[in-house]
Formats: sequence, C-alpha cells, structure tokens
Amino acid sequence: MQEVRVLAPAKVNLALRVGPPRPDGFHPLETVFEALDLFDEIIVRSADELSLSIEGAPGLPADSSNLAMRAAYALRERVGRVGGGAPGAGDSVRRFGGADRPSRDSSQLPGAHMTIRKRIPVAGGMAGGSADAAGALVALNELWGCGLGADELMALGAQLGSDVPFSLLGSLALGRGRGEELTPLRCAAMHSWVLVVSDEGLSTPAVFREFDRLAGATQSGPEVGGPGGQTHVGASPCPARAEPDPTAGLRQALIGPDLASLAEHMINDLQPAALSLRPDLAATLGHIADCGVARILSGSGPTIAILAADAASADSLAARLAASLPELTILRADGPAAGAHVAGVR
Ligand code: C5P
Repeated sequence: MQEVRVLAPAKVNLALRVGPPRPDGFHPLETVFEALDLFDEIIVRSADELSLSIEGAPGLPADSSNLAMRAAYALRERVGRVGGGAPGAGDSVRRFGGADRPSRDSSQLPGAHMTIRKRIPVAGGMAGGSADAAGALVALNELWGCGLGADELMALGAQLGSDVPFSLLGSLALGRGRGEELTPLRCAAMHSWVLVVSDEGLSTPAVFREFDRLAGATQSGPEVGGPGGQTHVGASPCPARAEPDPTAGLRQALIGPDLASLAEHMINDLQPAALSLRPDLAATLGHIADCGVARILSGSGPTIAILAADAASADSLAARLAASLPELTILRADGPAAGAHVAGVR
C-alpha cells in the first residue's frame, strides 16, 4: 500500500456545560458533540521520514507542533513499544524490533509524508486540529499496518487532545471528563447547519481562562448568556456543581422529532467568555437573531452554528447570509456525520 486517504469531521457542541477547573487545569465538561460532514482530508504516502504539508491554511505550522505530526509520532512510539505482533502488521512494522521491547532506534521507525487539505475553519471551535490528529492516526494505522483497534486509537487520541477521541468516533455522543469520555447517542433526524466563520480564530485556552475570570466575577449567580443571544437566567458557570445531569433535557429532545425542543435545550457555557474576548460576535449574533431555529457558538468559538429547519432552508439561508455578511465565510454542513474514516487506498 502506497497511499491512504482519510476524511475527518468537524464538530459542533449542541450543549457545552463547563465546571470549575480541576487540579490539572482542565475543566470538567458535560457536552453533546455532533460530527458534521465538513471534512478535512488527510492523505499519507510512504516515505523515509515523517513530514507534513498543509493545503488551504497558509498560516498553520507544518512542523512537529502540529497535532497531526504529534499524532504520527505518538502512533509510531506506541507501535514501536508493543513490537510488530499486531494483527495485519506489514513489513515496516515488523522492522520495529522484538515484541514487547521498546524500539528506540529512530532509524528503524517508518516514515510517511502527510498532506492535510483543510476545510474545517482554523481555531474556529470546530475541532479542526483534533480532526487532523484523528485523521493522521487512522491513516497511518492503515499505511503502516499497525492493526490498532478503535479503542486503542481513542486512548492514544485522548493523550493528544480532549476532542480527538470524538473526531475518531464521530456521529453524536455525550462527552464527559475533559470531553474524552464518550457515550454514543442517537437522534431522530439529520440536522442541517449553516456555519458563520470568522477570519480571525480564538484560542481555546484563552476562552477557558476568560470563563474562569467571569465565573470568579459572578459567584453570586447572575445571568449567563445562552444560545442565540438569548439569556438563560440562573445558568450557572459551574453546572458540574449545580446540576447533576446538565444535558439530560437535550438528550431527551434529540430522540424526539421536534427541532424547537432541541433548540430550547442548546446552550454553550463558553459563549459569554468568547463574546467577552470578541465583542464583534455579539453583532453577528444580532444580525442572525431570526435565522434558523437556533444559533449557538461552536465550542470555544468564534464559529457560530445556525440550526436550520431542513436542508432546503439551510441552503437558502446560507446564500442569503453570504450576501449580507460578505466579510464572513458562510459554510453549509449536515450532521451527524461519520468519524475519521478511510476514504481511499492505493
Ligand atoms: O485538550 P486540548 O489540548 O484540546 O485542550 C486545549 C486547552 O483547552 C487546554 O490546554 C485547556 O487550557 C483548555 N481545556 C480545558 N478544559 C477542557 C478542555 C480544554 O480547560 N475540558
């Protein structure tokens, strides 16, 4: 096998409830992820060394700081450590050395050239970096014949980033812990989305820091902004403490046919923090206040996801917004969509 092509999905969070930071600095989450059919493409080809090139995102680093490169190193290290006994292991893997013995000689480790074709907005709150890491894991697992199963890839993915396991799993899932503890969910219908994408991204750690700052400043339980610019009175910035099962209503709404009920339960606790860092998002939310059945910031933002009544309404809304918001990029996507998966092998 010379080349493997993988598609890895973007995500939106239908609900994102955030608790106070844990001792390790991460925030406990309760979230409902939905994967969208907006895919980054990850193509890997056999090569002596590990390398990466990126198409469609000029500013993105293609060095070892890129999460896809870190995924490649992590997979190589993981397979090097367990030796070449994995089912379906190819020659390149057998070169790693004896089973259960660490293989530290990097000259014996396989390489690959990875190409990422970016379509998911960069730093947009849609897990684009996590999708690339997930795509690299799936593609290289195949190219190198590592034979790791889905659970093993998910465990490796969780070490790389909180959203990587969901990028592997795809579809619809409840996420707990940092977001990496996943329970698959079902829904009654497909969802049609219009995505309003800013040119300028937002740093996820910065949004979480701002969340902490606002939570500290609002200990007495004031109002916290909800989806679509609505205000949810009493939505605590610390739902992990305040509500035992903060996404129960949304999960119930997902299995019913009524999108309005789903819309009612959509909430993102990071939205006030993102709006505080990026006041321009409030103007965008104001502009789209009547669009679709619900509007929500995607993850840590700044992408805003609009849930439309159906695919036709989403198509016409996307065309209308592209004309009325020329400074922003408008995308169309549907969900739930598959997790990172092999789309072609040569
Ligand atoms: O896990 P990941 O590397 O994607 O997280 C990026 C950053 O987002 C973390 O370093 C942390 O600052 C913040 N984060 C958090 N709580 C989470 C997930 C992410 O504070 N559950």
